[in-house]
Amino acid sequence: MVNLKINGNLIHVPEDMTVLEAATLAGVTIPTLCDHPDLHPYGGCRLCVVDVKGYRTPMASCTLAVSEDMEVNTHSPEIEKSRKIILELFMSNYHDDGYENGQKQKTQFMHWVDHYGLDVKASMSTKPQYPVNSDANPFVFVDLNKCIQCTRCVRACTDIQGRFVWSMAERGIDTHPVAGANTDMLDARCESCGACVAYCPTGALDNKMSMGAGVPDKVVMTTCTYCGVGCQFELNIKANKIIRVTSTEKAPVNGNHLCVKGRYGYDFVHHPERISKPRVRRYLLEGKKKPVVSEQLTMNMGQWDWVETDWETALDITSQKILDIKSQFGANRIGVLTSAKCTNEENYLMNKLARQAIGTNNIDHCARL
Ligand code: SF4
Ligand code: SF4
Ligand code: FES
Repeated sequence: MVNLKINGNLIHVPEDMTVLEAATLAGVTIPTLCDHPDLHPYGGCRLCVVDVKGYRTPMASCTLAVSEDMEVNTHSPEIEKSRKIILELFMSNYHDDGYENGQKQKTQFMHWVDHYGLDVKASMSTKPQYPVNSDANPFVFVDLNKCIQCTRCVRACTDIQGRFVWSMAERGIDTHPVAGANTDMLDARCESCGACVAYCPTGALDNKMSMGAGVPDKVVMTTCTYCGVGCQFELNIKANKIIRVTSTEKAPVNGNHLCVKGRYGYDFVHHPERISKPRVRRYLLEGKKKPVVSEQLTMNMGQWDWVETDWETALDITSQKILDIKSQFGANRIGVLTSAKCTNEENYLMNKLARQAIGTNNIDHCARL
């Protein structure tokens, strides 16, 4: 442990902490943009600079290690002034078409811009430097006019997803992220996990499916049903519809990370063709014999139609069919496939149904894949 003073208060922290981590532990909020606790420190945006006694220049707190007897001032007037200048410099190269149309985004960058009292419209660049929506990825919206070169996308794809899609190209004012060797994201082996979107602090990377969807009425924490990992995330709901999925550090298994299915695979929920009632083939409902193949193609075609019915009828027909197969061919000719979209308890009951009621060990589950 080391002892140091932050804004005059003595604190004791582990020696492998940064000044930013120590300040956070002490309840002091230092503005940041390029830093994120999940990503390796970068020290690029300089918004987190602090005064440290004995140092000639302000230091980036996100990369500076704590040391014994250090004295740090996080919010001196000079430091606050330099933060405002840094934000003004970012704004001079920032352009948001949406803002001009009155759609202000709630991003980490805009939070600090507001906090330091910048007039967005007056301070942002008047012209876009890059094409808006410049990548064909079906899920990730790219607008590099909002990029502040923080490299969080690069580090998210490298540190978390391990796909190495993004890197930084060019120099000076032209520095910007590129996918692969300046190709598009999918060509650069992107898996569309959306991690780069989740970590981008400006909205330069965004969720294509949610563009223009607005602000949710409520946010509901839930558990993903696509596989057995048990990732948790937030469903953003507006007018009883899911408008986006956001990951959260509160999720114990996955933190801010999700795969493409968890983050973007929710369109089935409100799909107009989603099956919400049981259906059976018409010939079963009418108690007729299964039409032979030649009849299927001609006059008995309608007998194969799926017809909506009530649960009791559908379950009666299903159980009768299972009993018929069992008595004719034996229980081992029956297999049960369950789903990750059921709860653990429902899957447990399917296991009981297969092994004890039907008498087969042929049971499997998609989450085992
Ligand atoms: S969506 Fe995922 S895999 Fe694709 S670039 Fe972003 S972080 Fe990398
Ligand atoms: S796209 Fe977003 S995360 Fe990537 S460098 Fe630009 S601002 Fe940072
Ligand atoms: S947050 Fe420390 S330099 Fe960007």
